[in-house]
Amino acid sequence: MAIANTFAFSGIEAVPVEVQVQIAPGQPALALVGLPDKAVGEARERVRAAFAAMSLSLPLKRVLVNLKPADILKEGSHYDLPLALGLLAAMEVLPRDEIAGYAALGELSLDGSLNPVAGVLPAAIGASAQELGLICPAGQGGEAAWAGRIEVLAPRDLISLINHFRGTQVLTPPQLAGVAEGRPCPDMRDVKGMETARRALEIAAAGGHNLLLVGPPGAGKSMLAARLPGLLPDLDPGCALEVSMIHSVAGLLDGGRLVMRPPFREPHHSASQAALSGGGHRARPGEVSLAHRGVLFLDELPEFPRQALESLRQPMETGRTTVSRAAAHVTYPARFQLVAAMNPCRCGYLGDGGRECGRAPRCGEDYQNRVSGPVLDRIDLAVDVQPATAAELSHAPPGEPTAPIAARVAKARQIQAERFGADGPLCNAEADPHTIRLAPDAQKLLEQAMDKLRLSPRGFTRTMRVGRTIADLAGADVVGRVHIAEALAFRHRMPGR
Ligand SMILES: Nc1ncnc2c1ncn2[C@@H]1O[C@H](COP(=O)(O)OP(=O)(O)OP(=O)(O)O)[C@@H](O)[C@H]1O
Ligand SMILES: [Mg+2]
Repeated sequence: MAIANTFAFSGIEAVPVEVQVQIAPGQPALALVGLPDKAVGEARERVRAAFAAMSLSLPLKRVLVNLKPADILKEGSHYDLPLALGLLAAMEVLPRDEIAGYAALGELSLDGSLNPVAGVLPAAIGASAQELGLICPAGQGGEAAWAGRIEVLAPRDLISLINHFRGTQVLTPPQLAGVAEGRPCPDMRDVKGMETARRALEIAAAGGHNLLLVGPPGAGKSMLAARLPGLLPDLDPGCALEVSMIHSVAGLLDGGRLVMRPPFREPHHSASQAALSGGGHRARPGEVSLAHRGVLFLDELPEFPRQALESLRQPMETGRTTVSRAAAHVTYPARFQLVAAMNPCRCGYLGDGGRECGRAPRCGEDYQNRVSGPVLDRIDLAVDVQPATAAELSHAPPGEPTAPIAARVAKARQIQAERFGADGPLCNAEADPHTIRLAPDAQKLLEQAMDKLRLSPRGFTRTMRVGRTIADLAGADVVGRVHIAEALAFRHRMPGR
């Protein structure tokens, strides 16, 4: 029996899978067992064709391939390469003991060339943990090299891999892929006026808090949200690796370059629950996971399908999302900052005496009720965005640019990092409320507000966290009354609510 190693992906974890190949006397056939899905079943045909392209034919015997362990579903097209390697080892074309020292993943074309696949980075990390080398398609070697001390072979096609093992052509080790450049972000300078909304954006960036912008059409909500990525600091190396693994499993790691900037995902409101939370026909991270350690921006919030919005509740609380599969549950990291924008009602002008429609305020209630209470309860900062006036738009000087705001945010994040230490949370949005020290009068104000504003216990802790961020921006050690007062002013100010 010959063995080739590969991986199945459970979330971002690479689970070792052994491709066992046995050639036995009997009717010529190639059987594949061990819970392969359709794409894996098709691997047989691609391998057969790739062998034919090299003038190799399968032995005229009974060939049995088993994917071990048999109880986890094998999804995707990356099993082509390990299957081909197992066969070549079983046929004595390649040395069995050498092949057993590598893990492999890659999709074969009919001409024997290798196509890129998802999941190379977690596979490389998995291979490194098992002290195996990794064989992956050319062009993805740089991604695998991020796993550190690991031998990586990244051949263009099957024949150059065979030649490498035979010693007739040596594959050069791949160069480490670089770091991805963040996409260019528009500057805050373009936003005139809107002081309250600007302040909320800065607090949200500094503490990683969820933000809702409510306002009439054209008030500048989308404009403001699009400028948030520019205010956020780079990911630390641990987060960068984690985020890159998610993007790798989704097949979105551009050129194998590590993601260093916080992701900014803006799915359209026609997005389904599976697109948002993960899953669907094949296990795949959803937008909530692709936004891990970054921002999930939902523009026109009430227009999203109700089910899709409700599916945000679990990840918003736990930082993880669980996708149900036929045979098991798959969990992906999903710790994101939610930024949402919406009009106060369908016509958009609720509260604007001259322009609101005849159905006000009912139309506003109906529209806002599309977003459920539990989802709104998870919003830390809600801003009623007042459009800039004509005078502001034509005569006001440009707004404060991104750079100085980003510097204040970075300083506040630095204070948080020092307070939480290496093993603690990353920002105040995740802080344990017991660790937040409030001045006595701040505590009293918060307790009074809980009764008056009927804050939920969640609202209570979330207000404390926002207060902590406001204090950090001010460089204050203890959260004071003014900080809590400002945090309370930003808690749910929906027109009509
Ligand atoms: N405060 C402002 N300063 C400068 N330009 C602004 C401001 N507010 C709005 N604008 C201009 O108006 C345009 C529309 O703004 P934006 O698309 O952000 O509105 P919106 O609030 O998202 O509206 P809608 O509810 O229709 O989606 C912006 O692209 C910008 O050109
Ligand atoms: Mg908009």
